[in-house]
Amino acid sequence: MKHLIDPMDLSKEELDQIITLAEDIIARREEYQESQAHRKLATLFYEPSTRTRLSFTSAMMELGGNVLGFSDAKSSSVSKGETVQDTVRVVSCFADVIAMRHHIEGAQLYASEVSRVPIINAGDGSHSHPTQTLTDLLTIKRELGHIDGITIGFCGDLKFGRTVHSLIKALSRYKDIQVVLIAPDELKLPDYIKQDVCDRLGIRYKEVATMEEVMPELDVLYMTRVQQERFLDQDEFDRVKDSFVLDAARMSLAKEKMAVLHPLPRVNEILTEVDADPRAAYFRQVENGKFVRMALITKLLEWKDDPAHGMPATEQPVLDPTLRCTNAKCICNNEHAPHKFRRNDAGVLRCWYCDSKIKQ
Ligand code: NCD
Repeated sequence: MKHLIDPMDLSKEELDQIITLAEDIIARREEYQESQAHRKLATLFYEPSTRTRLSFTSAMMELGGNVLGFSDAKSSSVSKGETVQDTVRVVSCFADVIAMRHHIEGAQLYASEVSRVPIINAGDGSHSHPTQTLTDLLTIKRELGHIDGITIGFCGDLKFGRTVHSLIKALSRYKDIQVVLIAPDELKLPDYIKQDVCDRLGIRYKEVATMEEVMPELDVLYMTRVQQERFLDQDEFDRVKDSFVLDAARMSLAKEKMAVLHPLPRVNEILTEVDADPRAAYFRQVENGKFVRMALITKLLEWKDDPAHGMPATEQPVLDPTLRCTNAKCICNNEHAPHKFRRNDAGVLRCWYCDSKIKQ
């Protein structure tokens, strides 16, 4: 069975199939109206969300299916202390596919180990957000006509911004990608993405201090919000919150065909004066999110019993009772998930669930 927990769960062929189907849904919407009639999507949202949850809901409704679930864990059995694995065991008796958002990193991977139906990760802590990635890829393809060969600038909170982590991973499936990282020191991209994704999978990247110096090179500018809710220290948040702001003057330095993306919600990092610029693609991106989720739900249900579309083979986990994941926001430190690890070719050990580096 195929779950979507991490963007790398999808091969390049599977990614292409989802994007092609999304484009066909856009072109021939009425053809798909009843295609998932009587199928049910459960949305289990343990963390606040408006657009992602509504996007999943409207996607399933447009396919003629039904939606059940909760948008506030306090109103579910979670408030009685139920674990994510038990919740998913129960909900997979009621639904054909589950979309889950959780503030704990690795929660969906852990849940998928016991699920009878496909699990879609709708965001886990600061870790991953693969359906936003599908949205971003479809948007780039529609705005520019291609994904191969682009230079993409990521600006803002590259440390806690899970959409950035997932999109960079997925871009490793494309040819000749150049990534430019624009962030204050406190919000730089985590090492595991630089080392395990960019270095190992051959994405060229550079880090710069200002937007101005790279603006003319970019095909895509991916703006992000500083993730206030993930900061442990309010003073640190106050220091960095206004670091990079996109305005009309900076837009005037960019290519005529550059596309500005943002996963939304925006706070103050893109001034509203940019909204009328034809290169501002972020509201079109929202609608693409619905179409690509329609395609994803369709494909996961189609692939459910097809052995050709299982999860990618993984190496055997390293189990060593003397080692612990020290990430307080990881599922191993919040539920009874085992402390298990994966070792990459460079010998670095990382947590199986949240990718944190493990000190040996
Ligand atoms: C993003 C998220 O939840 O990570 N939003 C979204 O899914 N549309 C980005 C954010 O919250 O800043």
